[in-house]
Order: sequence, then C-alpha cells, then structure tokens
Amino acid sequence: MLVPTSLETSHAGQRPKLEIRGLSKAFSSPSGPVQALAPFSLCLNKGDFLCVVGPSGCGKTTLLNVVAGFETPTTGTATLDGKLIRGPGAERGVVFQQGALFNWMSVLENVAFGPRSCGINAAEARGRAMELLELVGLGAFAAKYPYQLSGGMQQRVGIARALANDPDILLMDEPFAALDQQTRELLQEEIRRIWKTTGKTVMWITHSIEEALFLATHIIVMTSRPGRTKAAFTSSFTHSDDPYIASSPEFAAAKRVIVGLLRSEAKEAQRLEVAE
Ligand SMILES: Nc1ncnc2c1ncn2[C@@H]1O[C@H](COP(=O)(O)OP(=O)(O)OP(=O)(O)O)[C@@H](O)[C@H]1O
Ligand SMILES: [Mg+2]
Repeated sequence: MLVPTSLETSHAGQRPKLEIRGLSKAFSSPSGPVQALAPFSLCLNKGDFLCVVGPSGCGKTTLLNVVAGFETPTTGTATLDGKLIRGPGAERGVVFQQGALFNWMSVLENVAFGPRSCGINAAEARGRAMELLELVGLGAFAAKYPYQLSGGMQQRVGIARALANDPDILLMDEPFAALDQQTRELLQEEIRRIWKTTGKTVMWITHSIEEALFLATHIIVMTSRPGRTKAAFTSSFTHSDDPYIASSPEFAAAKRVIVGLLRSEAKEAQRLEVAE
C-alpha cells in the first residue's frame, strides 16, 4: 500500500534521526549558477528506509552528498540526531553506484579499513569485518581481492564496508544500478534482510520504481531540477512476506502512481536539457 504523507516535519511523534530544513544547493559553472536543489525540508526517523526517485539531473546525488558531508548546502541545514552535518563522518556509511573499493587490499582488509581508521585494533577490526562479510554472504571470499569478484559481490563488499563503522544511517546512491536484473533482485532481498536485522536508517537513491516499492518504508518523488519533494508516501510492501508481491494488483497500482508523477517531471527535465 502506498499512502500519501508529508515528510517535511517529524512523523509518528518521534524526534527525527535525519532532519533537512530549508536546504538548497547551487553550483557555479562557466555558464552561470546551476540551481541543483530548491529549498526543501525532509525528516526521517530511526529505522526508516527512504527511497528517493526523480528524473535524471534533479539533484538526488547532490542531496546524498550534502547528507554525506561531501558538499555544503547553499541555504538551510542537515542535522543527524540534532547535530549539524559539517563534513563526512563515521556515523554515515556511504555506498556508491560502483567501484570505490581499494583494489590493492583484500576483501577483508577493505571492510576492516573503516574501523581501523577509527582506532580499533587490528584483531577486533578483522573480527568485525568477518562478521559483516558473513552477513552479506561473502565469508568465503574474505581473502580475495575486489578485482577477483563479480560486480554484485563487489557491491556486497561495499555494503559490508559501509556497515563496518556501525553507522547511524546508510546513504546509497543507486548501488545496484550497474547489475543485471537477477542479481539485483537477489541483492534487494538481501538488503531488506540486512535492514530488518540491523534496524538501520537508510536513504536509498534509485531509478527503479519496483526497487523503491520493494524496499522502502517511505518514498519521495523529486521534481525536475531544481529538485525538491514533489510527493511523499509511506509504503508497506517491504513488510510483506509474499515473494510474489511485485505481481500483485496493489503493487501495480502503486507503480502507476509513481510512474505518473515521474513522467511529467521527466518531460520537464528533458525540456531543461534542451534549453541549456
Ligand atoms: N560539482 C558540480 N558543479 C556544477 N554542477 C553540478 C555539480 N554537481 C552536480 N551538478 C549539477 O547539478 C544538477 C544535479 O545533479 P545530480 O548529480 O545531483 O543529479 P541526479 O539527480 O543525481 O542525476 P542522475 O539521476 O542522472 O544521477 C545537474 O544539473 C548537474 O549537472
Ligand atoms: Mg545521481
């Protein structure tokens, strides 16, 4: 079930885990300023799984980068547990679309790298890394190097690495975009299991509406650039035990709602591209 909601203020009577307030971002470019994000607000509670969908170029990665601390907002603020985000931090685990593993380190060393950097001793860091590799189903591959793994396995290492610092929030920018459909569906089931096991808060960017409906407790559809929330929903398909939920009439109806919202925004995004 997809139910319209507002995520602009705190929901369910809880103090938000992540609070984005009046946030906007403009970049300067040789042809003048590019307004990537229009001022908007968004609240996420602990344990929420937010999927962000929106047309290409609407500012999704920019939003994630601000929350990750890689970009500073032009206006407004992003706070985690009431603390202003000013730069990257171990309490935010980031997974990119692909790559980003250290090819010269074993899989185990890649996952242990974060805890080691935080001053945890080698034995403990390796122990924690091994537990996480088991969690993502890669215990047997600990001694391998990233280039010896398939794309799907590398993304699982990336997820284990992001979990290694026991972050409060996972920030994922289209982590499964480069994978084939079968691998992608298996990993979606796996990430849902990991999310349910760990109770982490997740912000997940995707172009796949099915993926968003399968995973999310909350979905925002963004407008074309400058991006802001066009519509927000709570979604309950992630709680279903039905393995064929994606074939249900309710799922199809929910998909139509999101497709309808995205279609008009995609047209606007294309018009902007032509105009530039
Ligand atoms: N460092 C930068 N300098 C100038 N413009 C930028 C910079 N980063 C992003 N932009 C612009 O900001 C806008 C939003 O980019 P962003 O990468 O956030 O979009 P997106 O929604 O993630 O797109 P996609 O779905 O294609 O990944 C785009 O018009 C992009 O060209
Ligand atoms: Mg992007």
